Amino acid sequence: RTRRLIAGNHSPNLLEKTGKMFEIPANFKWRGLKDGVGCLADALENTKEFPYETIPHFPASTVDGHVGKLVFGYLSDVPVVCMQGRFHYYEGYPLWKCAMPVRVMKLIGVTHLIASNAAGGLNPNYKVGDIMIVGDHINMMGFAGNNPLQGPNDERFGPRFPPMNKAYNKELTEYGKELAKKLNIPEIVHEGIYTCLGGPNFETVAELRMLKMLGADAVGMSTVHEVIIARHCDMIVFAFSLITNMCITNYETYDKPNHEEVMDVGKMRQDLLKVFVKELVKYIFDN
Ligand code: 6GU
Repeated sequence: RTRRLIAGNHSPNLLEKTGKMFEIPANFKWRGLKDGVGCLADALENTKEFPYETIPHFPASTVDGHVGKLVFGYLSDVPVVCMQGRFHYYEGYPLWKCAMPVRVMKLIGVTHLIASNAAGGLNPNYKVGDIMIVGDHINMMGFAGNNPLQGPNDERFGPRFPPMNKAYNKELTEYGKELAKKLNIPEIVHEGIYTCLGGPNFETVAELRMLKMLGADAVGMSTVHEVIIARHCDMIVFAFSLITNMCITNYETYDKPNHEEVMDVGKMRQDLLKVFVKELVKYIFDN
């Protein structure tokens, strides 16, 4: 089945190049990282980088502060491929295209996806700089009739009607919380529900109040469609949000969210996130 998948791949050059550079054994298990915080790729060792514009059919990243390259390397001696910079719906790409790199990862043999993002905190117990392990999501764009799986189903990847009730791997979620204790940061790490809006504008007060009522703990502009594509092809998923700002759900506060603040909190937490992901990757490899 794997061989058939590779034959139908849309990026033969990428496969050929990466296969040659790393001499990938047939049963090699890679781990995929979707780095929405922008610093995790720096933790990789022995890297080979592919700027997105050099990869056939890859979209190009257009957001300030998001670099665009696919980085292959090792994290805790585990082979990983990391997307440094991802594609967002607000950049103008359809959802399937935003999530297409996940299928490329699948085709080169990636088994586990770790997705990270920057998000606004809705849960009043959260603080800026906290990490929210995603326990589940609410697909708001799906509610509006937009989904990365729309159109004819590609049976090579998965079924027409994939289940989504076990989207985020329970064992990894539990390990993430255990890891928080081990790293002595239990008060920083939560498990919660992520929701994704199309962006690019941040939400109104009324919208944020609604999302809170719906049960969302954090809101962002990514990840959900990528996770759907990953689960469709049966990849194992772990995701976490870095809470870069608290959502303003009253009309009295003058403060407003901005992209600089989001980037600053990312930088503030980059060392911790690297350790967190390294430990996670080690656990995945050992188990
Ligand atoms: Cl407040 N909203 C959304 N949609 N994305 C964010 C955010 C807020 N903060 C960081 N990313």
